[in-house]
Amino acid sequence: MRVLSIVGARPQFVKLAPIAHALAAAGHEHVIVHTGQHYDAKMSDVFFTDLGIPTPDVHLGVGSGSHGVQTGSMLTQLDAVLDEHDPDWVLVYGDTNSTIAGALSAVKLHYPLAHLEAGLRSFNRRMPEEHNRVLTDHAADLCLAPTEVAMGHLAAEGLAERSTLTGDVMTDVCLKVAAEATADALPFAGDVGDDFFLATLHRAENTDDPARLRAIVEGLAALPHPVVLTAHPRLVAKAKEQGLDLTVGSLHTIEPMEYPTMVAAVKAARAVVTDSGGLQKEAFLLRTPCTTVRTETEWTETVDLGWNVLALDLDRLAELVARPAPEPTDATPYGDGHAAEATVAALAERVRPRS
Ligand code: UD1
Repeated sequence: MRVLSIVGARPQFVKLAPIAHALAAAGHEHVIVHTGQHYDAKMSDVFFTDLGIPTPDVHLGVGSGSHGVQTGSMLTQLDAVLDEHDPDWVLVYGDTNSTIAGALSAVKLHYPLAHLEAGLRSFNRRMPEEHNRVLTDHAADLCLAPTEVAMGHLAAEGLAERSTLTGDVMTDVCLKVAAEATADALPFAGDVGDDFFLATLHRAENTDDPARLRAIVEGLAALPHPVVLTAHPRLVAKAKEQGLDLTVGSLHTIEPMEYPTMVAAVKAARAVVTDSGGLQKEAFLLRTPCTTVRTETEWTETVDLGWNVLALDLDRLAELVARPAPEPTDATPYGDGHAAEATVAALAERVRPRS
Protein backbone atom coordinates (compact mmCIF):
# COMPACT_ATOMS: atom_id res chain seq x y z
CA MET A 1 0.00 0.00 0.00
CA ARG A 2 1.22 3.51 -0.82
CA VAL A 3 -0.08 6.29 1.45
CA LEU A 4 0.49 9.95 0.68
CA SER A 5 0.23 12.20 3.77
CA ILE A 6 -0.43 15.92 3.34
CA VAL A 7 0.62 18.08 6.32
CA GLY A 8 1.53 21.72 6.81
CA ALA A 9 0.91 22.97 10.34
CA ARG A 10 2.41 22.20 13.72
CA PRO A 11 -0.32 19.91 15.16
CA GLN A 12 -0.23 17.87 11.95
CA PHE A 13 3.47 17.10 12.36
CA VAL A 14 2.70 15.68 15.82
CA LYS A 15 -0.04 13.43 14.36
CA LEU A 16 2.14 12.44 11.43
CA ALA A 17 4.88 11.01 13.69
CA PRO A 18 3.05 7.88 14.96
CA ILE A 19 1.50 7.32 11.51
CA ALA A 20 4.90 7.46 9.79
CA HIS A 21 6.30 4.97 12.31
CA ALA A 22 3.31 2.60 12.03
CA LEU A 23 3.38 2.66 8.21
CA ALA A 24 7.12 1.91 8.19
CA ALA A 25 6.73 -0.87 10.76
CA ALA A 26 4.06 -2.55 8.61
CA GLY A 27 6.24 -2.25 5.48
CA HIS A 28 4.02 0.21 3.57
CA GLU A 29 5.23 2.99 1.28
CA HIS A 30 4.74 6.51 2.63
CA VAL A 31 5.09 9.76 0.72
CA ILE A 32 5.11 12.91 2.88
CA VAL A 33 4.00 16.21 1.38
CA HIS A 34 4.66 19.37 3.45
CA THR A 35 2.62 22.31 2.19
CA GLY A 36 4.82 24.91 3.95
CA GLN A 37 1.86 26.50 5.79
CA HIS A 38 4.09 26.61 8.88
CA TYR A 39 7.64 27.48 7.90
CA ASP A 40 9.50 28.84 10.96
CA ALA A 41 12.03 26.25 12.16
CA LYS A 42 10.43 26.23 15.62
CA MET A 43 6.98 25.62 14.12
CA SER A 44 8.10 22.92 11.70
CA ASP A 45 11.64 21.49 11.37
CA VAL A 46 12.17 20.71 15.06
CA PHE A 47 9.10 18.46 15.05
CA PHE A 48 10.54 16.33 12.26
CA THR A 49 13.87 16.06 14.07
CA ASP A 50 12.54 15.48 17.60
CA LEU A 51 9.82 13.03 16.63
CA GLY A 52 11.94 11.06 14.14
CA ILE A 53 9.74 11.85 11.11
CA PRO A 54 11.37 11.29 7.71
CA THR A 55 12.18 14.45 5.74
CA PRO A 56 9.22 15.35 3.50
CA ASP A 57 9.45 13.99 -0.05
CA VAL A 58 7.78 17.12 -1.40
CA HIS A 59 7.73 20.66 -0.01
CA LEU A 60 5.27 23.10 -1.56
CA GLY A 61 6.61 26.18 0.27
CA VAL A 62 3.31 28.08 0.25
CA GLY A 63 3.94 30.24 3.36
CA SER A 64 1.39 32.68 4.82
CA GLY A 65 -1.55 34.38 3.16
CA SER A 66 -5.30 34.84 3.39
CA HIS A 67 -7.31 31.61 3.48
CA GLY A 68 -8.00 31.75 -0.26
CA VAL A 69 -4.43 32.56 -1.24
CA GLN A 70 -2.91 29.94 1.07
CA THR A 71 -5.36 27.17 0.12
CA GLY A 72 -5.31 28.09 -3.57
CA SER A 73 -1.55 28.06 -3.71
CA MET A 74 -1.54 24.51 -2.32
CA LEU A 75 -4.23 23.41 -4.78
CA THR A 76 -2.36 24.66 -7.83
CA GLN A 77 0.60 22.46 -6.91
CA LEU A 78 -1.07 19.34 -5.49
CA ASP A 79 -2.57 17.86 -8.69
CA ALA A 80 0.85 17.17 -10.19
CA VAL A 81 2.17 15.77 -6.89
CA LEU A 82 -0.71 13.30 -6.55
CA ASP A 83 -0.44 12.19 -10.16
CA GLU A 84 3.29 11.68 -9.85
CA HIS A 85 2.99 9.46 -6.75
CA ASP A 86 -0.34 7.77 -7.62
CA PRO A 87 -1.19 6.76 -4.00
CA ASP A 88 -3.64 4.10 -2.78
CA TRP A 89 -4.70 6.59 -0.11
CA VAL A 90 -4.35 10.32 0.33
CA LEU A 91 -4.31 10.94 4.09
CA VAL A 92 -5.17 14.39 5.47
CA TYR A 93 -5.01 15.42 9.11
CA GLY A 94 -7.14 17.59 11.38
CA ASP A 95 -8.61 20.91 10.37
CA THR A 96 -6.17 23.31 8.73
CA ASN A 97 -6.03 24.92 5.30
CA SER A 98 -3.58 22.15 4.34
CA THR A 99 -6.32 19.60 5.20
CA ILE A 100 -8.98 21.11 2.96
CA ALA A 101 -6.54 21.69 0.09
CA GLY A 102 -5.40 18.05 0.23
CA ALA A 103 -8.98 16.82 0.42
CA LEU A 104 -10.16 18.86 -2.58
CA SER A 105 -7.23 17.83 -4.70
CA ALA A 106 -7.68 14.12 -3.90
CA VAL A 107 -11.42 13.94 -4.56
CA LYS A 108 -11.20 15.90 -7.80
CA LEU A 109 -8.56 13.50 -9.10
CA HIS A 110 -10.44 10.41 -7.77
CA TYR A 111 -7.76 9.33 -5.34
CA PRO A 112 -9.22 7.59 -2.26
CA LEU A 113 -9.22 10.10 0.59
CA ALA A 114 -8.98 9.35 4.32
CA HIS A 115 -9.43 11.99 7.02
CA LEU A 116 -7.60 11.46 10.28
CA GLU A 117 -9.26 13.11 13.30
CA ALA A 118 -12.64 13.04 11.57
CA GLY A 119 -15.95 13.93 13.22
CA LEU A 120 -14.76 16.71 15.50
CA ARG A 121 -17.22 19.56 15.76
CA SER A 122 -17.27 22.88 17.60
CA PHE A 123 -20.58 23.85 15.90
CA ASN A 124 -19.07 27.33 15.61
CA ARG A 125 -19.39 28.17 11.92
CA ARG A 126 -17.17 31.23 12.24
CA MET A 127 -14.06 29.13 12.90
CA PRO A 128 -11.94 28.39 9.81
CA GLU A 129 -11.11 25.03 11.41
CA GLU A 130 -14.83 24.10 11.51
CA HIS A 131 -15.27 24.78 7.77
CA ASN A 132 -12.16 22.74 7.03
CA ARG A 133 -13.18 19.72 9.09
CA VAL A 134 -16.85 19.57 8.02
CA LEU A 135 -16.01 19.89 4.31
CA THR A 136 -13.17 17.38 4.55
CA ASP A 137 -15.32 14.77 6.34
CA HIS A 138 -17.97 15.04 3.63
CA ALA A 139 -15.38 14.70 0.87
CA ALA A 140 -13.62 11.71 2.44
CA ASP A 141 -14.04 8.05 1.50
CA LEU A 142 -12.93 7.04 4.97
CA CYS A 143 -13.43 9.06 8.18
CA LEU A 144 -11.00 7.98 10.90
CA ALA A 145 -12.62 9.07 14.16
CA PRO A 146 -10.64 9.53 17.39
CA THR A 147 -13.57 9.19 19.83
CA GLU A 148 -17.11 7.84 20.27
CA VAL A 149 -18.36 11.43 20.36
CA ALA A 150 -16.78 12.05 16.94
CA MET A 151 -18.39 8.84 15.62
CA GLY A 152 -21.75 10.19 16.83
CA HIS A 153 -21.28 13.46 14.93
CA LEU A 154 -20.38 11.59 11.74
CA ALA A 155 -23.45 9.35 12.08
CA ALA A 156 -25.67 12.40 12.64
CA GLU A 157 -24.42 13.80 9.32
CA GLY A 158 -25.13 10.56 7.42
CA LEU A 159 -21.47 9.46 7.30
CA ALA A 160 -21.65 6.36 9.57
CA GLU A 161 -20.94 3.86 6.80
CA ARG A 162 -17.69 5.59 5.83
CA SER A 163 -16.51 6.01 9.43
CA THR A 164 -14.41 3.92 11.75
CA LEU A 165 -13.19 4.44 15.33
CA THR A 166 -9.41 4.28 15.62
CA GLY A 167 -8.64 6.18 18.85
CA ASP A 168 -6.55 9.32 18.91
CA VAL A 169 -3.02 9.27 17.49
CA MET A 170 -2.08 12.23 19.72
CA THR A 171 -2.46 9.85 22.67
CA ASP A 172 0.12 7.55 21.05
CA VAL A 173 2.72 10.26 20.71
CA CYS A 174 1.98 12.12 23.95
CA LEU A 175 2.21 9.03 26.17
CA LYS A 176 5.34 7.76 24.39
CA VAL A 177 7.15 11.09 24.67
CA ALA A 178 6.05 11.53 28.30
CA ALA A 179 7.40 8.06 29.15
CA GLU A 180 10.75 8.84 27.51
CA ALA A 181 11.05 12.33 29.04
CA THR A 182 14.30 12.88 30.90
CA ALA A 183 14.48 14.81 34.13
CA ASP A 184 16.35 17.72 32.50
CA ALA A 185 15.39 21.12 33.88
CA LEU A 186 12.87 23.03 31.76
CA PRO A 187 14.59 25.78 29.75
CA PHE A 188 12.67 28.53 31.57
CA ALA A 189 13.09 27.09 35.09
CA GLY A 190 15.92 29.52 35.90
CA ASP A 191 13.59 32.47 35.26
CA VAL A 192 10.28 31.30 36.73
CA GLY A 193 11.07 28.46 39.17
CA ASP A 194 9.08 25.22 39.22
CA ASP A 195 5.67 26.55 40.23
CA PHE A 196 4.14 28.01 37.09
CA PHE A 197 1.12 28.14 34.80
CA LEU A 198 1.55 27.26 31.13
CA ALA A 199 -0.36 29.20 28.46
CA THR A 200 -0.74 29.18 24.66
CA LEU A 201 -2.93 31.35 22.44
CA HIS A 202 -3.20 31.38 18.67
CA ARG A 203 -6.75 31.01 17.37
CA ALA A 204 -8.01 33.83 15.19
CA GLU A 205 -11.17 34.28 17.30
CA ASN A 206 -8.89 35.30 20.23
CA THR A 207 -5.86 36.92 18.58
CA ASP A 208 -7.78 38.94 16.00
CA ASP A 209 -10.39 40.36 18.41
CA PRO A 210 -8.69 43.24 20.29
CA ALA A 211 -11.14 43.24 23.23
CA ARG A 212 -10.86 39.48 23.75
CA LEU A 213 -7.10 39.46 23.39
CA ARG A 214 -6.71 42.30 25.90
CA ALA A 215 -9.01 40.58 28.43
CA ILE A 216 -7.10 37.29 28.13
CA VAL A 217 -3.70 38.93 28.48
CA GLU A 218 -4.90 40.92 31.52
CA GLY A 219 -6.36 37.75 33.10
CA LEU A 220 -3.10 35.85 32.63
CA ALA A 221 -1.00 38.77 33.89
CA ALA A 222 -3.08 38.81 37.09
CA LEU A 223 -2.40 35.16 38.04
CA PRO A 224 -0.64 34.58 41.39
CA HIS A 225 2.28 32.55 39.92
CA PRO A 226 4.45 33.01 36.80
CA VAL A 227 2.69 32.27 33.51
CA VAL A 228 4.92 30.75 30.84
CA LEU A 229 3.30 31.91 27.59
CA THR A 230 4.69 30.10 24.55
CA ALA A 231 3.91 32.57 21.83
CA HIS A 232 2.72 31.46 18.38
CA PRO A 233 3.80 33.88 15.59
CA ARG A 234 0.17 34.91 15.05
CA LEU A 235 -0.10 36.02 18.70
CA VAL A 236 3.15 37.98 18.57
CA ALA A 237 2.07 39.77 15.37
CA LYS A 238 -1.42 40.60 16.64
CA ALA A 239 -0.26 41.76 20.09
CA LYS A 240 2.22 44.10 18.40
CA GLU A 241 -0.49 45.45 16.08
CA GLN A 242 -2.75 46.12 19.08
CA GLY A 243 0.02 47.63 21.25
CA LEU A 244 -0.28 44.86 23.87
CA ASP A 245 2.70 44.03 26.09
CA LEU A 246 3.14 40.26 26.53
CA THR A 247 5.58 40.67 29.43
CA VAL A 248 3.39 42.48 31.98
CA GLY A 249 2.53 41.14 35.46
CA SER A 250 3.00 37.38 35.82
CA LEU A 251 3.59 36.85 32.09
CA HIS A 252 6.85 35.27 30.98
CA THR A 253 6.68 35.01 27.18
CA ILE A 254 8.92 32.59 25.31
CA GLU A 255 9.21 31.25 21.75
CA PRO A 256 7.27 28.11 20.74
CA MET A 257 8.70 25.01 22.46
CA GLU A 258 9.83 21.71 20.95
CA TYR A 259 7.31 18.90 21.47
CA PRO A 260 9.24 16.92 24.15
CA THR A 261 9.84 20.12 26.15
CA MET A 262 6.18 21.04 25.79
CA VAL A 263 5.07 17.64 27.12
CA ALA A 264 7.45 17.99 30.08
CA ALA A 265 6.17 21.53 30.72
CA VAL A 266 2.50 20.43 30.63
CA LYS A 267 3.28 17.65 33.10
CA ALA A 268 5.10 20.03 35.46
CA ALA A 269 2.69 22.98 35.23
CA ARG A 270 0.24 23.85 38.01
CA ALA A 271 -2.41 24.33 35.29
CA VAL A 272 -2.70 24.99 31.56
CA VAL A 273 -4.55 27.87 29.84
CA THR A 274 -5.04 27.48 26.09
CA ASP A 275 -7.15 27.79 22.96
CA SER A 276 -5.37 24.86 21.29
CA GLY A 277 -7.23 21.62 20.71
CA GLY A 278 -4.23 19.35 21.13
CA LEU A 279 -3.10 20.94 24.36
CA GLN A 280 -6.49 20.42 26.04
CA LYS A 281 -6.06 16.70 25.45
CA GLU A 282 -2.39 16.61 26.40
CA ALA A 283 -3.25 18.35 29.68
CA PHE A 284 -5.93 15.70 30.31
CA LEU A 285 -3.63 12.79 29.40
CA LEU A 286 -0.95 14.14 31.75
CA ARG A 287 -3.59 15.06 34.37
CA THR A 288 -2.91 18.79 34.54
CA PRO A 289 -6.06 20.93 34.97
CA CYS A 290 -6.87 23.00 31.87
CA THR A 291 -8.81 26.19 31.24
CA THR A 292 -9.84 26.74 27.64
CA VAL A 293 -10.25 30.31 26.41
CA ARG A 294 -12.98 29.54 23.90
CA THR A 295 -16.77 29.46 23.98
CA GLU A 296 -16.88 25.76 23.04
CA THR A 297 -14.59 22.78 22.65
CA GLU A 298 -14.44 19.79 20.33
CA TRP A 299 -12.91 17.71 23.14
CA THR A 300 -16.01 17.59 25.34
CA GLU A 301 -14.75 14.52 27.24
CA THR A 302 -12.13 16.66 29.00
CA VAL A 303 -14.90 18.97 30.27
CA ASP A 304 -17.30 16.16 31.21
CA LEU A 305 -14.57 14.47 33.27
CA GLY A 306 -13.89 17.74 35.14
CA TRP A 307 -10.34 18.38 33.88
CA ASN A 308 -11.15 21.21 31.50
CA VAL A 309 -13.29 24.32 32.01
CA LEU A 310 -14.36 26.79 29.34
CA ALA A 311 -13.59 30.40 30.28
CA LEU A 312 -16.90 31.89 29.18
CA ASP A 313 -16.47 34.99 31.35
CA LEU A 314 -13.02 36.41 30.61
CA ASP A 315 -13.32 38.87 33.53
CA ARG A 316 -13.13 35.82 35.84
CA LEU A 317 -10.24 34.17 33.99
CA ALA A 318 -7.65 34.45 36.79
CA GLU A 319 -10.11 33.09 39.39
CA LEU A 320 -11.09 30.19 37.13
CA VAL A 321 -7.51 29.18 36.32
CA ALA A 322 -6.61 29.11 40.02
CA ARG A 323 -9.56 26.79 40.90
CA PRO A 324 -8.94 23.61 43.00
CA ALA A 325 -7.79 20.41 41.24
CA PRO A 326 -10.54 18.06 39.95
CA GLU A 327 -11.39 14.50 41.06
CA PRO A 328 -8.85 11.92 39.81
CA THR A 329 -10.00 9.73 36.91
CA ASP A 330 -8.68 6.70 35.04
CA ALA A 331 -10.98 7.22 32.02
CA THR A 332 -9.40 6.74 28.57
CA PRO A 333 -11.71 8.51 26.08
CA TYR A 334 -8.78 9.06 23.69
CA GLY A 335 -7.74 5.45 23.31
CA ASP A 336 -4.92 3.29 24.61
CA GLY A 337 -1.94 4.68 22.66
CA HIS A 338 -2.28 2.35 19.65
CA ALA A 339 -4.40 4.50 17.35
CA ALA A 340 -1.76 4.77 14.62
CA GLU A 341 -1.63 0.96 14.21
CA ALA A 342 -5.44 0.89 14.07
CA THR A 343 -5.37 3.64 11.44
CA VAL A 344 -2.86 1.80 9.23
CA ALA A 345 -4.89 -1.42 9.56
CA ALA A 346 -8.10 0.43 8.60
CA LEU A 347 -6.41 1.84 5.48
CA ALA A 348 -4.81 -1.48 4.48
CA GLU A 349 -8.12 -3.35 4.78
CA ARG A 350 -9.80 -0.93 2.39
CA VAL A 351 -7.23 -0.54 -0.40
CA ARG A 352 -9.08 -0.51 -3.72
CA PRO A 353 -7.87 -2.99 -6.31
CA ARG A 354 -6.07 -1.24 -9.16
CA SER A 355 -7.66 -1.68 -12.59
C1 UD1 B 1 -3.18 27.02 11.77
C2 UD1 B 1 -4.51 26.29 11.57
C3 UD1 B 1 -5.09 25.86 12.91
C4 UD1 B 1 -4.05 25.12 13.76
C5 UD1 B 1 -2.81 25.99 13.87
C6 UD1 B 1 -1.71 25.38 14.70
C7 UD1 B 1 -5.76 27.04 9.59
C8 UD1 B 1 -6.90 27.86 9.12
N1 UD1 B 1 -5.47 27.16 10.91
O1 UD1 B 1 -3.42 28.26 12.44
O2 UD1 B 1 -6.20 25.00 12.66
O3 UD1 B 1 -4.59 24.87 15.04
O4 UD1 B 1 -2.31 26.24 12.56
O5 UD1 B 1 -0.66 26.29 14.89
O6 UD1 B 1 -5.15 26.32 8.84
N2 UD1 B 1 3.33 32.34 10.95
C9 UD1 B 1 4.70 32.52 11.06
N3 UD1 B 1 5.50 31.41 11.01
C10 UD1 B 1 5.01 30.16 10.86
C11 UD1 B 1 3.61 30.00 10.73
C12 UD1 B 1 2.79 31.08 10.79
O7 UD1 B 1 5.20 33.61 11.23
O8 UD1 B 1 5.81 29.20 10.81
C13 UD1 B 1 2.44 33.52 11.07
C14 UD1 B 1 2.08 34.17 9.77
O9 UD1 B 1 2.05 35.55 9.97
C15 UD1 B 1 0.66 33.67 9.50
C16 UD1 B 1 0.12 33.51 10.90
O10 UD1 B 1 1.26 33.12 11.69
O11 UD1 B 1 -0.06 34.56 8.71
C17 UD1 B 1 -0.95 32.49 11.03
O12 UD1 B 1 -0.56 31.26 10.43
P1 UD1 B 1 -1.68 30.39 9.67
O13 UD1 B 1 -1.04 29.25 9.00
O14 UD1 B 1 -2.56 31.26 8.86
O15 UD1 B 1 -2.62 29.87 10.81
P2 UD1 B 1 -2.37 29.45 12.32
O16 UD1 B 1 -2.89 30.54 13.21
O17 UD1 B 1 -0.99 28.95 12.55
